[in-house]
Amino acid sequence: MISDKEHVITVDGASGTGKGTVSLLLAKRLGWKFLDSGALYRVLALAAQKHQVAFDNEKALEVLAEHLDVQFLAQETSASQIILEGEDVTTTIRTEKMGNAASIVGALPAVRAALLSRQRAFRDTPGLVADGRDMGTVVFPDAELKIFLTATPEERALRRFNQLKQQGISVTLGDLIMELRERDKRDQERAVAPLKPAEDAVCIATDGLTIDQVVERILLEYKGKAGKKAFPATTDLINKQSEAVVAE
Ligand code: DC
Repeated sequence: MISDKEHVITVDGASGTGKGTVSLLLAKRLGWKFLDSGALYRVLALAAQKHQVAFDNEKALEVLAEHLDVQFLAQETSASQIILEGEDVTTTIRTEKMGNAASIVGALPAVRAALLSRQRAFRDTPGLVADGRDMGTVVFPDAELKIFLTATPEERALRRFNQLKQQGISVTLGDLIMELRERDKRDQERAVAPLKPAEDAVCIATDGLTIDQVVERILLEYKGKAGKKAFPATTDLINKQSEAVVAE
């Protein structure tokens, strides 16, 4: 049963749908914790690379996942700083190569099982926004609100292209579209916890919407779902913030 003090909103979707930025902003707006589950899979892939564990060695990856020495240090205005075995890997894990490697190791059932309790441990007061592929279907099936973001492959590739460019990472749009398709296929077709909306998810098509518009839409959904009576503190907070946005 969900405690009144531990609210959860899940935001799932494919790469480039904006879910990372949206989820982080949403968590900041609500004053909640934030789980970037993709980062956990990326860190595991990086650790495997570091310790020369093959991406198809399920048993060794399971052990590595169970003992992963990783810290997520929350930052005031940006995503968490990520420390693997004492080393700052915040930017190292963000390459397309690591995204693809994360998708490969994430397809292994024993790896997913090993990372499950670690992800659930992020649940905290007053609430958690969890971003990933299976947050609403597997990790937090009892979340109060489940969001599934979509966008056309072209839009997603373009967003990813601009994001990587900003980070100084050079890629071509054509390569990105190809890699996105390959990654989508693997994430959607894997036997365990494939990328798909939960039955009770609210799907939002984000083409043509700004990040702020998507965040506002999710806040409205949450406000509608939570209801003033059931969750007065959070609903009041959202009301105040919505008024502030209108006033700006
Ligand atoms: O969200 P992201 O692009 O950082 O995720 C990288 C990969 O990690 C993604 O292609 C598949 C895997 N992943 C997963 O299997 N389950 C999650 N909940 C999050 C990510």
